[in-house]
Amino acid sequence: MSIFITGGAGFIGSNFVLDWLEQCNGTVINLDKLTYAGNLDNLMSAKNNKQHIFVKGDIADSALLCKLFTEYRPRAVINFAAESHVDRSILDPKIFIQTNIVGTFQLLQSVQAYWNNLEKMAKDHFRFLHVSTDEVYGALVADDPAFQETDSYKPNSPYSASKAASDHLVRAYHHTYGLPVLTSNCSNNYGPYQFPEKLIPLVINHALTGKPLPIYGNGLQIRDWLYVKDHCSAIRRVLERGKPGETYNVGGYNEKTNLEVVRTLCTILDELRPRADEKSYQAQIVYVNDRPGHDRRYAINATKIKNELGWEPTETFDSGIRKTVEWYLANSNWVSNTTNDHYQHWLEKQYS
Ligand code: NAD
Ligand code: DAU
Repeated sequence: MSIFITGGAGFIGSNFVLDWLEQCNGTVINLDKLTYAGNLDNLMSAKNNKQHIFVKGDIADSALLCKLFTEYRPRAVINFAAESHVDRSILDPKIFIQTNIVGTFQLLQSVQAYWNNLEKMAKDHFRFLHVSTDEVYGALVADDPAFQETDSYKPNSPYSASKAASDHLVRAYHHTYGLPVLTSNCSNNYGPYQFPEKLIPLVINHALTGKPLPIYGNGLQIRDWLYVKDHCSAIRRVLERGKPGETYNVGGYNEKTNLEVVRTLCTILDELRPRADEKSYQAQIVYVNDRPGHDRRYAINATKIKNELGWEPTETFDSGIRKTVEWYLANSNWVSNTTNDHYQHWLEKQYS
């Protein structure tokens, strides 16, 4: 039987499609609007795979969703589609409200209509999995315990507020209509195919092209990093074993300051692709104005998914970050194809 995913041409979604085709049986229908963040190059290795069906479209397009659900009869829908970049949400929040809130609402309406008409057995086995973020919990300070599923929501940016709203809608469709939903709240991902506006691919790309490596504020903010393929295996596990109505935090226990992450990237690049002048790439670090409302620290307590579903990450930060640098070095064409004029223009508007 097929599964239906949204946002599968983006960073995590495309990794998930490739991972699914490798690990699982059954067709993947992949609906993506192909915004600036969606890139079919990510799916090149699945080009001739008949188990992957790509459809360009919007999660808010109910007529299209109805047609696709009727045609493919998926056993599950996984929602990756979103506007995902915090900086963009600060400068222009409107599309975040449209896609992340209105879009998720329209998707839920379409899924519910499809689910209502399934036969009992298919209805019992159907799942809607909503992929969300740790940012809905707000910010931690120094010694606060890591986020747990029972923590209250305190989103701080327009991005995290829009994701929090979508999580609440998903919850409400379970509570009110009985839709069998699952929600995962994950920490910062890194790995292949991440659009180079996010810290890790941006720093690698800037280092190699001789540009400044911008650190917001003092660089002591903390993020909890997870290799994207571990996130994909967690989503598969939640889909197959998660209990409808439950939420699962996903993280890799890799808390790092931004400065540590950037210095680590510089050290690996110094070894793998030394600068012509033999200086460290750290010479390119510059401190720029801070992100407005910048959350100080995120950290995930992932004991629920470990204890109840038996999931744990396999990659350490050291192994994952080295693989990531190697991937970007080997895929410089992918990076240059994504960093077009529009992207350059966008970067110049940031907090310099
Ligand atoms: P991304 O920005 O790389 O990809 C988003 C994808 O969604 C793109 O392919 C885009 O074209 C598509 N899309 C956007 N609007 C759409 C719409 N209206 N209809 C259909 N498709 C649409 O994002 P990502 O980093 O891969 O994140 C995927 C999901 O995981 C998001 O929901 C995000 O909130 C969540 N998440 C991301 C991270 C992270 O570190 N990147 C961590 C936790 C959770
Ligand atoms: O925590 C999960 C979230 O992680 C996801 O929900 C988001 O979709 C994803 O974009 C990511 O959000 P962040 O804002 O944490 O990621 P970003 O890569 O933009 O920034 C990581 C940290 O690095 C953050 O503290 C801001 C800082 N930063 C970022 C950039 C782009 C810099 O210091 N300089 C930069 O140039």
